[in-house]
Amino acid sequence: MQKEVVLSGIRSTGFLHLGNYFGAMRNYVRMQDDFDCYFFVADWHALTTHPDTKELRNSVLRVLAENIACGLDPEKACLYVQSHVPEIAELYMLLNMLAYKGELEKTTTFKDKVRLQPQNVNAGLLTYPVLMAADILVHRAFKVPVGKDQEQHLEMARNFAQRFNHRYGDVFPEPVAFNFGESLVKVPSLDGAGKMSKSENQMATLYLADDDELIRKKVMKAKSDSGPTEPNSDKPDYIENLFQLMRLVSKKETVDQFEADYNNCTIRYGDMKKQMAEDMVAFIAPIREKAAAIYADEKYLAEVMQTGAEKARKSAGATLALVREHMGLKYF
Ligand code: TYM
Repeated sequence: MQKEVVLSGIRSTGFLHLGNYFGAMRNYVRMQDDFDCYFFVADWHALTTHPDTKELRNSVLRVLAENIACGLDPEKACLYVQSHVPEIAELYMLLNMLAYKGELEKTTTFKDKVRLQPQNVNAGLLTYPVLMAADILVHRAFKVPVGKDQEQHLEMARNFAQRFNHRYGDVFPEPVAFNFGESLVKVPSLDGAGKMSKSENQMATLYLADDDELIRKKVMKAKSDSGPTEPNSDKPDYIENLFQLMRLVSKKETVDQFEADYNNCTIRYGDMKKQMAEDMVAFIAPIREKAAAIYADEKYLAEVMQTGAEKARKSAGATLALVREHMGLKYF
């Protein structure tokens, strides 16, 4: 039986963090045995916000190394770099004819980026969701493991697929955002203001490359207060975030104990943060060390990229042949 196709991507815009891991990469690793998986580094997408390419190569290699260190096996999943698959650019161009300026301008991430970089509102930024749809549809993928922040982009990919199928005939499945834990994940930042991010808010984000001391320092600085005064009271957002982060890496008994301490007003956030810092260190250190070794092995990474590109181009080429045929772009 043919396996269902899965695809996801990560932008090469900086160091990967706990949000990338728990929102996306953890699912990649779980899916690689049972699905036909394609995972890639979105280096073209990175250019929409990071036009300076001095760090791009390092960043691409690091994303690959960190994915492999987290358990992704290039022998099982196809691991490649977006710019090695020109078929994606062709599909992006064709899908652009089915994407309307108004809907692109209304996209939340576009509006956010306009606020963040008013000096560089480029067309790539506006058509970001179209390129993302091309990434997915080029392998006719159905399940797309992503964090909560990508939900709207997935909805747009479905719309573009639907429009194409309606106009030119059925070529694409309508892709869905996927997480094993059902609802999509958003890993909050340590300061309780927003989410962990590759390029913003770095002291409130835990990176997979952070050393032990830095992890401890960031966790200990996380916002807390002097504790509840009423038993069983609601948690303020920043405290709920701490619990949420702790649940990702600590044992259930540990979290339950702090929950109980919270509910009977005996919680000491200093102790909770110390425990969480140690559990974070225990989680991150082995990934960091493995990633550093893989990152240093450029020959191996080159092989991974080459093998991945070949497989991805084969699948993408087959889709493009179908697309051209359905669109009537065949003249002899
Ligand atoms: P990117 O590079 O911002 O993030 C990569 C993945 O990590 C998830 N993520 C998070 N999940 C939970 N909590 C967080 N704080 C958090 N921060 C990031 C993201 O949801 C994502 O799954 N547009 C995409 C890259 C992309 C893509 C694609 C993804 C390009 N083409 C096609 C899927 C399919 C992005 O910027 O991800």
